[in-house]
Amino acid sequence: MRAADIADQLTTVLVTEEEIHAKLEELARRVEADYAGKDLLLIGVLKGAVMVMSDFARMLTRDITMDWMAVSSYGAGTKSSGVVQIRKDLDTDLTGKHVLIVEDIIDSGLTLSWLLENFASRGAASIEILALLRKPAAAKVEIDSRYVGFDIPTDFVVGYGLDFDERYRNLRDVAVLAPHVYS
Ligand code: XMP
Ligand code: MG
Repeated sequence: MRAADIADQLTTVLVTEEEIHAKLEELARRVEADYAGKDLLLIGVLKGAVMVMSDFARMLTRDITMDWMAVSSYGAGTKSSGVVQIRKDLDTDLTGKHVLIVEDIIDSGLTLSWLLENFASRGAASIEILALLRKPAAAKVEIDSRYVGFDIPTDFVVGYGLDFDERYRNLRDVAVLAPHVYS
């Protein structure tokens, strides 16, 4: 569905599907250049990164391998605590691998900070991050993400994989949810 289909449930459309696709194409060309001559393992963080991974991986004109990890972050409410539990681990041995983590969003940065350390301890040759969205004003830890799609305000956003209570993942655009939906 598009933002227009559920306009009554949204306040602002931040990024349209067309803008997302154009940006991912741009990032795909950069990744191809940066990893020329190297094997590349894309690791998607479930579930939010499913849409980004699906579109981005198909825009690459080279061979890659793909794996998935599911983590949950413990703490009060909806905010990330930095205490991360693995719900589904990787199937791949990371030893000597060039890893590109594919994420939907960098909010506090706590989840990615934990993942970076975890992957480094498994002996990856290199680890970089591709995140479609980033909320610079929400950062609790500085995350050095080589590939970032869009910087956005701190509002809670949905769409293109991002959910509220598992809804709105199939929205093609990224938008701010109207307050009446969660109150
Ligand atoms: P952190 O704070 O650790 O973010 O960087 C971890 C995960 O939290 C989710 N997240 C969001 N999900 N709308 C969502 O639907 C948002 O605005 C939002 N901000 C963070 C997301 O899964 C991220 O990977
Ligand atoms: Mg996520």
